[in-house]
Amino acid sequence: MISRSTIDRVFETARIEEVVGDYVVLKKRGGNMLGLCPFHNEKTPSFTVTPAKGFYKCFGCGAAGNAVGFLMAHDQLTYPEAIKQLAARYQIEIEEDQRANNDPAYQAEKSQRDRLWDLMAFAQQYYTRLLWDHPSGMAIGLSYFRERGLSDATIHRFGLGYSLEQSSALVEMATQSGYSLEELELAGLALSGEHRGYYDRFRGRVLFPIYHLSSKVIGFGGRTLKSDRKEAKYINSPETPLYRKSESLFGLHQARKAMASAGFVYLVEGYMDVISLSQAGIENVVASSGTALTREQATLIHRFADEVILIYDGDQAGIKAALRGIDILLENDLRVRVIALPEHEDPDNLARRLQGDVLKKFLIDNAHDFMAFQQNLLLKEAGRDPLRISYALQVVAASIACVGDPILRAVYIRHLAEDAGIPDSSVQEAVVQQFKLRAKRNPYTAQNPVNPSSNEFPQGNPNTAALPSTSLSDPSWNPKVQDITIPEVQPLSDLPQETEILRLLLLIGDQTMDDPTGGTPTTLVDYMSETLLSLTWDSPACRTLLELCLGRWQKEGCLPNSHELINHADQAIAAMATRWYTEGRQISPNWDQMHDIPIHPPTVNLKREIETTFDRLLLKKVLRHRRLKQAELKDLQQTPTGFDHPSIPVILREIHELKEAERRITARTGIVITH
Ligand code: UTP
Ligand code: MN
Repeated sequence: MISRSTIDRVFETARIEEVVGDYVVLKKRGGNMLGLCPFHNEKTPSFTVTPAKGFYKCFGCGAAGNAVGFLMAHDQLTYPEAIKQLAARYQIEIEEDQRANNDPAYQAEKSQRDRLWDLMAFAQQYYTRLLWDHPSGMAIGLSYFRERGLSDATIHRFGLGYSLEQSSALVEMATQSGYSLEELELAGLALSGEHRGYYDRFRGRVLFPIYHLSSKVIGFGGRTLKSDRKEAKYINSPETPLYRKSESLFGLHQARKAMASAGFVYLVEGYMDVISLSQAGIENVVASSGTALTREQATLIHRFADEVILIYDGDQAGIKAALRGIDILLENDLRVRVIALPEHEDPDNLARRLQGDVLKKFLIDNAHDFMAFQQNLLLKEAGRDPLRISYALQVVAASIACVGDPILRAVYIRHLAEDAGIPDSSVQEAVVQQFKLRAKRNPYTAQNPVNPSSNEFPQGNPNTAALPSTSLSDPSWNPKVQDITIPEVQPLSDLPQETEILRLLLLIGDQTMDDPTGGTPTTLVDYMSETLLSLTWDSPACRTLLELCLGRWQKEGCLPNSHELINHADQAIAAMATRWYTEGRQISPNWDQMHDIPIHPPTVNLKREIETTFDRLLLKKVLRHRRLKQAELKDLQQTPTGFDHPSIPVILREIHELKEAERRITARTGIVITH
């Protein structure tokens, strides 16, 4: 039993933002910190941490608690385990009460899970000791790693080990230390055969431990050192109560800090690829370990990065097979780029030839947008064969249907139509079909972001509706949880709306739109310029940028390009543009919450969908503006000069203009906004 005073010290010392920060990327928002909730799948952050009060709370799924509770929920630790983990993190010495480890009653209380964690740690220590100290470990294992160019520091950093050829070296060692044969089997470390009894799973192999985010070992990959073709090159831990393959990524524990600071991650195939790249200075790298990517892995990645750069070995068949798994990343709102290495090259080789900044530059220079890459590859392969072209189109359409951002989707649709030489509308139809197929296959994601057949705004987060409330919502387990108050929601400023309007204007302004009321088709810029100019812009940079756009449009019939804006002398404009053109063509994070406007899945008339999105945003801004003006008018009318105030006619005219703008947008779109 951990003493009361130790527990108190842990609570006094632990800082919620540091503890949560080990698992979730947090951004400062006033006195709070905000991130993507690790307890449910979300795309816009609703997970807040309040350092001053020492708690976290998710407004999406309701999970809440303090630092100890977070570890319990996240790593499925028991209360004492969580306390111990925090004590270790903050170097607090643990005082145990009398009933210590050798008390049989206490031992029995320890859950099986705890014992498995201990057993995995025991095995890992045993295997590393063999690598560094045992004659055959050193002669065979250590020299193998060194021959492959790994430094001792790297071998330590990844906790690499070696298992002896003998049939039950670990089994004997572990049973002598008090672990049972059943536990060894349950942990995936031993196998049992009718005649052989229990024997080690890993024999005569170098070992790559697989870590949980909490830095504990949950499994191993073991590589043979023989060229014997009869033996599997790798033997991996099976699924165990601790190791769920679909929820783990090799290297994530070591990579996560670098991922969070770079904002992206390299995804490779092999254990050695991760380790070599990491040693060469590319630390934001993880491996899927040869299996297809899962939704859980995508979510896991998204906690630390928004973009995935896949590195494929240079063999065509391999690349084609790997492309199939990528849609799951797109579906989870990750941006995806691809690096196809030259033939006979793999990340491990590459990392030995190039290092540091040269390697970084090579990788970034060779990363291509996934959609374009896939499209080129498949279309090129299809040649002029109509059936194969049609198949290629379906595959790419399926990927496009996974993209959440309508603008990006529209761009992809246009590119595909152009490259395949078929009308936009056919591609759009294919995308809609694929979207529906996916909805059928996977109703869970199809609810998200909105039901395609309805125009209703989504209410709350559909993904969380079915989530059971966590045990943490029961405050009785620890009195500190009762302190929770819900942080105030800051009133939204107009600024994000303004930048979003401008961003959309720049991206789609030069498109012609069909006027459903039967007027002549016109471009979005022409149509909107009057309305845009009549608005007051809170952000001076937005105002300047708007004038630049409209001026350029009038004089030269085009909008400013990305290069010009990114290099604009006005730093505020340059910063905005850099964000838009580099981080993404996604509808910005929080878009739907920020503006209360849904983002639709693809429909047949995609272009119109985007226009409508734009219109809704603009209408909101116009409405808000009119209300402000009306309030101003009322205030003036109540002053002593009352109705004769000289500003009144000006305001009245402004209100009239805004009403006109409202009318125009409403007539065009049929949108009515009442709040
Ligand atoms: P590779 O064969 O590319 O392995 O398989 P590697 O890691 O690059 O190993 P080296 O460079 O030959 O030493 C890629 C990944 O696929 C899984 C492993 O996770 C491996 O890292 N794999 C491969 C297996 O699980 N079993 C196998 O038999 C082969
Ligand atoms: Mn390799």
